Amino acid sequence: MDINVAKQGNANKNTLFTIDLNRKCSLFLSLKIGDWMLDVELVRKDFPFLKQGRIYLDSTATSLTPEPVLNKMLEYYREYRANVGRGIYKASQIATEEFEKARNEVSRLINAKPEEMVLLRNTSEGINLVASGIKLKKGDKIVTTTLEHHSDFIVWQRASKRSGAALKVVGADSEGFMNLADFEKAIDDSTKIVAVSQVSNVLGVKPPVKEIAKIAHEHGALVLIDGAQSVPHSKVDVKAIGCDFLAFSGHKMCGPTGAGGLYMRELLLEEVEPLCIGGGTIEDVGLDYYRLKKGAAKFEAGTPAIAEVIGMGAAASYLMKLGMLEIESHEQKLTKRVVKGLEEIPNLTLYGPKEPAKRAGIFSFNVGRLHPHDLAMTLDVTAGVMVRSGHHCALPVIKEVIKAPNGTVRASVYIYNNNQDIDTFLATLEEISRTMA
Ligand SMILES: Cc1ncc(COP(=O)(O)O)c(C=O)c1O
Repeated sequence: MDINVAKQGNANKNTLFTIDLNRKCSLFLSLKIGDWMLDVELVRKDFPFLKQGRIYLDSTATSLTPEPVLNKMLEYYREYRANVGRGIYKASQIATEEFEKARNEVSRLINAKPEEMVLLRNTSEGINLVASGIKLKKGDKIVTTTLEHHSDFIVWQRASKRSGAALKVVGADSEGFMNLADFEKAIDDSTKIVAVSQVSNVLGVKPPVKEIAKIAHEHGALVLIDGAQSVPHSKVDVKAIGCDFLAFSGHKMCGPTGAGGLYMRELLLEEVEPLCIGGGTIEDVGLDYYRLKKGAAKFEAGTPAIAEVIGMGAAASYLMKLGMLEIESHEQKLTKRVVKGLEEIPNLTLYGPKEPAKRAGIFSFNVGRLHPHDLAMTLDVTAGVMVRSGHHCALPVIKEVIKAPNGTVRASVYIYNNNQDIDTFLATLEEISRTMA
């Protein structure tokens, strides 16, 4: 179960390991993000899917899974296949230990305490849990934005309809930038919750979540961050953001499908109502009463996705071993290459921030009048390049922000993409644009 720790020390970084502790600190502070490097070719060896020789540029939808994660899940099925938190026998105890180790690793990834980490299926479930679990009523206000994925949008539309709370949607300019003054206007003392994504899954733009959280808290509102596109790609720190909830999905961060996490600030664990109750959530039951457990367990009814959670824990360890700063730096370099290349292709409209430094590795675009589905299929058929096309489960962005009625093609990069992937993608796109658009 060895992991290719695919970091490559550069001159600065090598020095870091040989100097004394006092100097380490100042040298560390003097390093820029760009100084940290991944050995992408070593990383690629961990991903069996890449042996097909095709180019995967759809990690925003779901990521590939490395061997250490696959092996960890197999280890559960082969060696301690038992339920968690129930059995007294050895296999069940090992399964429970591994499950809780996964909770620790996932918590460490976002600087949360394990007690604050609710293990669920995905981002959507986390957001639904919050929307149904906080007490909303007529006279309250929910604030969200046009940049949200449907999982952080229609959930609030429904919560507003059911409770009578008003829903205010903050808009963005054509590149996806939002104005803090608009949040200051939208959020007032009646605001119960502000829900915003840390990275847009269509435009790659990164809203100023820390500043938004500060405005919300000044008015006593709760803050939910949709971390689906930030947790896998950057160093996310729930304490530094100052959020109350943060939802994310294991399958977008090298983990399996079917496991995700919801960070819930410790003080809220008592107050928020669970979405489901049942086995695993109770402290005591009588014929005319039940008493729920305290903490995260209160929200985890029934047998969880054991292998998947254990796999998600292994994925969190894998990413942390590579280093979140290294991952961010690698993606930033690819981003510069992609943006520069896309800008040179005739007839191509790239959406989102023009400046590469202001975006994550997500690129939505259209070429001439080509339908996004036709373009995506041509990329696959002619060069084995896999990209997503359509509305990306974010119709408010498509309709209100970029106004692209057929949607867009979306390419996205991750730890296993190299320069060659990008160059093949760009060359194929160029050819398509010249011959088909
Ligand atoms: C920003 C954002 N939020 C929420 C989701 C929903 O994630 P899941 O399907 O894992 O629940 C996605 C999925 O693409 C997303 O990109």
